[in-house]
Amino acid sequence: MSYKQTKRWIVDKDDQFLHKSSEIKEAALWIKNGDVIAFPTETVYGLGANALDEEAIQNIFQAKGRPSDNPLIVHIAKEEQLKELVIDVPLVAKKLIHAFWPGPLTIILKRTNSIAESVTAGLDTVGVRMPSHPIALTLIEAADVPIAAPSANQSGKPSPTSASHVIHDLNGKIAGVVDGGVTGVGVESTVVDCSVDRVILYRPGGVTKEEIEAVIGPIEVDPSLQAETEAPRSPGMKYTHYAPIGQLYVVSDCGKINNYVQEARAKGHRVGVLTTEERKAKYDADIVVACGKRDDLSTVAQKLYDSLRTFDQQKAEIIYAEAFPKEGIGIAIMNRLEKAADAVI
Ligand code: TXA
Ligand code: MG
Repeated sequence: MSYKQTKRWIVDKDDQFLHKSSEIKEAALWIKNGDVIAFPTETVYGLGANALDEEAIQNIFQAKGRPSDNPLIVHIAKEEQLKELVIDVPLVAKKLIHAFWPGPLTIILKRTNSIAESVTAGLDTVGVRMPSHPIALTLIEAADVPIAAPSANQSGKPSPTSASHVIHDLNGKIAGVVDGGVTGVGVESTVVDCSVDRVILYRPGGVTKEEIEAVIGPIEVDPSLQAETEAPRSPGMKYTHYAPIGQLYVVSDCGKINNYVQEARAKGHRVGVLTTEERKAKYDADIVVACGKRDDLSTVAQKLYDSLRTFDQQKAEIIYAEAFPKEGIGIAIMNRLEKAADAVI
């Protein structure tokens, strides 16, 4: 599909009467009619279509250039929508739903046959989440169908945290985008599999492992999250993701970054450093991006993808990124940085 222009509906997420918004009503109608529309969630922007409409779902894969073996997350606005999508909701899943929905947690469950085939890429399970973003909830409710949505970036690129990121990647390839400003969490939802006997964490994200374990006790972690040699059980985790155009190196010993920068500049490269507000003055590079504050990692998560995209805009050829502590949301941040990186040094 190609469009002369991608329509942009500007909506204030704090509007008390969102359900009356003519912009959201129009976007919802377009989704109902089979179009592909980007919209904000509390994590990143999603690229949504009717999860029950096979043709509409095909258009998502096409617009993003997404491999067809990578399943999509289905977004709902009310718990009762689960009935149509999944066969059974085990007790652990009920506890997680109660604790974290609406919010950044995707739960994988055994699916019914009403979902379009390509949403689940041939698997007998489906990932479902109820986002907490008011625009996302209002849009799903108005469309009156479950909305399948991957992140609204071109496949392989950093996920979009603003409508401008979406337009940059997908202008003319999608019907429209609901512009609700920048997203809050900044990294994608946590993905857990509740279709198996012991719950497995596939993707670290907005809800931390500790928070989950506080509700349902110890869970397993997919071995591929710890060792690159293991093949991930979640299809999407095997692809290169989030990558800027330049070569990205994650540096464990930040004290060495200035040396690396000097060496690379001496070879004539345009060099960037990804750091935080606290340390930005320490670096002498062509591009220094302060990505939030190290003493509050949620601010780093929020700005991470925008920072990676800044290096593209500024034409960085080599980027050195400070490593972050792997605790709390830092686990998700490091997971994304390591996936985006050429190497960890
Ligand atoms: O925060 C988010 O989750 C965002 C917003 C838009 O909701 N969406 C998002 O979607 O990140 P996407 O498509 O970029 O990532 C979905 C991830 C992929 O790694 C995919 O493989 C995994 O979820 N996934 C989806 N369904 C699955 C299933 N049935 N079994 C295993 N993994 C699944
Ligand atoms: Mg994605």
